[in-house]
Amino acid sequence: MARPDPLRPAARTRSRTVVAQPVVDYAVEAYNLRKLYRTRAGKQAAVDGLDLRVPLGGVHGFLGPNGSGKTTTIRMLLGLIAADSGYIQIFDHEVPLALDEVIGRVGAIVEQPKFFPAFSGQKNLKLLAKAIGAPRRRVAAVLDEVGLAGRDKYRNYSLGMKQRLAIAATLLKDPDLLIFDEPTNGLDPAGIHEIRSMMRSLARRGKTVLVSSHILTEVQQIADTVTIIGRGRLLAEGDVNQILASDGHVAARVRVSDHLRATDVLTTAGFTVEPLPDRILKVALVHHKLDLAVITQLLADQGLYVSELTPIQPDLESVFLDLTAGQHLTAREERRHHPTRRPPQQRQRRGEHQQRRPERRRQPELPERGGRP
Ligand SMILES: Nc1ncnc2c1ncn2[C@@H]1O[C@H](COP(=O)(O)OP(=O)(O)OP(=O)(O)O)[C@@H](O)[C@H]1O
Ligand SMILES: [Mg+2]
Repeated sequence: MARPDPLRPAARTRSRTVVAQPVVDYAVEAYNLRKLYRTRAGKQAAVDGLDLRVPLGGVHGFLGPNGSGKTTTIRMLLGLIAADSGYIQIFDHEVPLALDEVIGRVGAIVEQPKFFPAFSGQKNLKLLAKAIGAPRRRVAAVLDEVGLAGRDKYRNYSLGMKQRLAIAATLLKDPDLLIFDEPTNGLDPAGIHEIRSMMRSLARRGKTVLVSSHILTEVQQIADTVTIIGRGRLLAEGDVNQILASDGHVAARVRVSDHLRATDVLTTAGFTVEPLPDRILKVALVHHKLDLAVITQLLADQGLYVSELTPIQPDLESVFLDLTAGQHLTAREERRHHPTRRPPQQRQRRGEHQQRRPERRRQPELPERGGRP
């Protein structure tokens, strides 16, 4: 596969949100990756010209909605499936061509690893260490690192303990790059917290951690950099703070002389308006950047005096939702992607979810003080 020019603009990306990367060394570089699957509906691109750059050291979040191609990409990086086209390099070795030379430096969890249920965690790891040629003394070290005593039988482990043992297994070879595909899936908040702090501590020790998730909040707190994808394509990449800054203001706090009239004026002009305490309004424009001058002008034209107008910086979640709007699977695609998940109507017919549907949420209303003019 020919190596492309890394300086060329990424294919079919939304330039508004893609942040230029400073010159850094990368643990993983992938360019123009493509993978098609044959389905009944014809050929479908699971990964569609994706670029992925994971800086050396630190935690890199690989984010995208369900079915956006995260697992497919990770499987290509690890040589588990072949890409249809594109170029991959891990630690300066082209993959899959030179996979043998680099795979010893990579630890990964892509699917739930298989352990013997009747053996303890420790015995499982000893067997594994022997199989992969890792020194036996590493077993105690990695169990200590993930905070497991390792003496209980695997079958009695909680989900969080199973995941920690899986991580311990990836650490046996003391790899430089760790790739975790949705490592917190199914864990409770305490389990999620443990896995998160483990990833941070690996990064502190100089490792590179690539972690995928479809839930942004799980990655936001620990990632130094992120790649956001949708339908197999790159939507945004770079430093978390840079991505936030590139999105501009999405909302503003507005204190105005007559908040009820101001609400009418702004709503009529197409803004969404939400009351905050102290008669302050939160004003936003869905999927658009906010021009604060327009708000001032609109209100001034109606003789309304603005005493405070403060932009509200977006959080990564709102940027993620904005970027991935329209990138989610349709109900039909979702059934194909997760065939074991039953649609809610089916569950209702079986009587598992008999409670009444909650009422539709009403638009937030302003406190009734003297009524609207
Ligand atoms: N073996 C396969 N055969 C056919 N289609 C596949 C196969 N594997 C994945 N796909 C399809 O490719 C697309 C990307 O799937 P992938 O599992 O990579 O997404 P994902 O981002 O990991 O999703 P999730 O967040 O649900 O894990 C989906 O539409 C999926 O249905
Ligand atoms: Mg996946």
